[in-house]
Amino acid sequence: MADFAIRRGELSDLDDVYALEQANSLRRYSRKIMNELFENGMVFVAEVGESLAGYVAVNVVFEDAELINIVVDKEYRERGIGGALFNTAIDESTNMGAKRILLEVESTNLPALRLYKRFGFVQISVREKYYGENDAMIMELVFSAKCSVLDAQ
Ligand SMILES: CC(C)(COP(=O)(O)OP(=O)(O)OC[C@H]1O[C@@H](n2cnc3c(N)ncnc32)[C@H](O)[C@@H]1OP(=O)(O)O)[C@@H](O)C(=O)NCCC(=O)NCCS
Repeated sequence: MADFAIRRGELSDLDDVYALEQANSLRRYSRKIMNELFENGMVFVAEVGESLAGYVAVNVVFEDAELINIVVDKEYRERGIGGALFNTAIDESTNMGAKRILLEVESTNLPALRLYKRFGFVQISVREKYYGENDAMIMELVFSAKCSVLDAQ
């Protein structure tokens, strides 16, 4: 049985999400950008008891969803929280009319790449040396093509 719960993020979660982002993310979005995500994008958070364990942020513009970031605290990784957050983001994007989701990931970020491949993402382009020595991979999941997101959790 899952020992975590997922719910929509609210502006009152901003401090906790920002702290999680600073401590765990390779990208470290500024507080201003995080604030904009809560106001204009779609944020879901995962909680273990009273603790914030992870978050996912997505923007949906017409038929395109874009993954802004997904982060699970180091302490809570490898117990399905990343997969569950991603699943929720995809379900909500579909509900909002999105037909696909796009993301960008550093070529050396193996845990994230494994997560995305589990969901059926395919690489559609590459930005060479986007992260210093490392490339950025642009990946896409077309929703009608996915077999079963639930199976990927
Ligand atoms: C990428 C990230 C979000 C994944 O989060 P996570 O919660 O560890 O993801 P999951 O638990 O769903 O899956 C991770 C692994 O744990 C495994 N797992 C899931 N539940 C499990 C369980 N109960 N017991 C053992 N293993 C489990 C999964 O099968 C998966 O294995 P794999 O990597 O070999 O495929 C996390 O590593 C992270 O926050 N990274 C830093 C931020 C980052 O890079 N974000 C992406 C930016 S593009």
